[in-house]
Amino acid sequence: MDKIVIKGGRALHGEVQASGAKNAALPILASALLADGTSTYRNVPDLADVATMLKVLRTMGCDAERDAETSDVCQVGVNGHITPEAPYELVKTMRASVLVLGPLVARFGRARVSMPGGCAIGARPIDQHLKGLKALGADIHLTEGYVEATAKQLKGGTVNFDVITVTGTENVMMAAVLAKGRTVMENCAREPEVEELAKVLNKMGARIEGAGTSIITIQGVDGLKPVEHAILPDRIEAGTLLVAAAISGGDVLVKRVVPEHMDAMVEKLREAGCTLTAEGGGLRCKAPQRLEAVNITTTEHPGFPTDMQAQLMALMSVSQGTSVINENIFENRFMHVPELHRLGADITIQGHTAVVKGVKGLSGAPVMATDLRASASLILAGLRAEGRTDVSRVYHLDRGYERLERKLSGLGADIRREKA
Ligand code: EPU
Repeated sequence: MDKIVIKGGRALHGEVQASGAKNAALPILASALLADGTSTYRNVPDLADVATMLKVLRTMGCDAERDAETSDVCQVGVNGHITPEAPYELVKTMRASVLVLGPLVARFGRARVSMPGGCAIGARPIDQHLKGLKALGADIHLTEGYVEATAKQLKGGTVNFDVITVTGTENVMMAAVLAKGRTVMENCAREPEVEELAKVLNKMGARIEGAGTSIITIQGVDGLKPVEHAILPDRIEAGTLLVAAAISGGDVLVKRVVPEHMDAMVEKLREAGCTLTAEGGGLRCKAPQRLEAVNITTTEHPGFPTDMQAQLMALMSVSQGTSVINENIFENRFMHVPELHRLGADITIQGHTAVVKGVKGLSGAPVMATDLRASASLILAGLRAEGRTDVSRVYHLDRGYERLERKLSGLGADIRREKA
């Protein structure tokens, strides 16, 4: 198993480009199931999770590959026979595999998808996905650990989500585009990735309005056509790189981002004393002489994203003063805390709240990644820590960051991947 070895203490400088967004790429790849023919996607990040989604699609009989020459291009061909089933072996490695459920039942009238279990950051049920599909007329049965959904023809309906869910909104939206009649979805997730999926579906011929707001209306159509689309930049990867600039005392321009998707992160970095400027389609972050403590509460978009909580906690661990971090989305997303303790951070957890008392410095140590964003937070802390930090279980990082260590070393970090 690979590990990342960092020698901390270098301020990062220069320019770096954000890759395509993981959490947009995954539903968009699944949406290819909605049309016969080959869809082509550009700016698809080269990540383990994307490889898993391509595998899920291949297992069903799609022709789903990453282009060997232009590595950011993926094609998904849906021609001929599809087995509408996502097996446990794949869903257990990536719960976002459940995103094939909506498209499969809408297009093929039948889907058999393994129930995702809990995961390191929380229980993460899919009851709202199923509630939405039922409202469109799907019959749902749970047998042998699988969700079986059937519907001769889905029918438009009203779906009012009890909980705001990103992939739930996406799954039901992908089902409703081929349902007969009009669907109204209320209390929807407003994340830019939901909006991006709607944009792609509309390019394919769907009639969706309101994506990016909490009410989405969809007029069902008889069929969709394949699409060509470039995936939007990853706001969480970009945010992680901005924090790398801040925590290392550096000055970095992250190119190719959509600044308005990052307002909540920018606001918190400014509060911490950083200078943030929009520059040529990118965002620059210049670290202050002294970082200040800031309080953070994670909420659904446009609030502060849970996917940046661990990274901001690393930053707060070396800021002046005491920060209070409330995690409102997932019940167990503080697994990075005991590992940050190993580097010398002073953090106390009380339920959903972490109290971070800034310390003067961190000191390098071997640490273990427990999930994707936790691994990013440990790498960020390692950039600041004195001496050597070894971050093991890097497979978590590779699920969602495209060659992060190369991007950071391009900015001057002393960081390398070692084969164990
Ligand atoms: N929830 C339910 N019932 C449901 C669905 C969700 O109770 O049917 C709860 C969850 O347990 C959680 C909350 O609602 O407490 C929000 O979960 P959501 O469904 O929005 O999360 P998700 O769709 O499974 C996506 C991202 C996550 C990101 C969350 C929150 C993808 C593929 N994943 O997950 O990304 O943290 O939204 O923004 O889009 C990551 O990239 O590191 C990551 C975990």
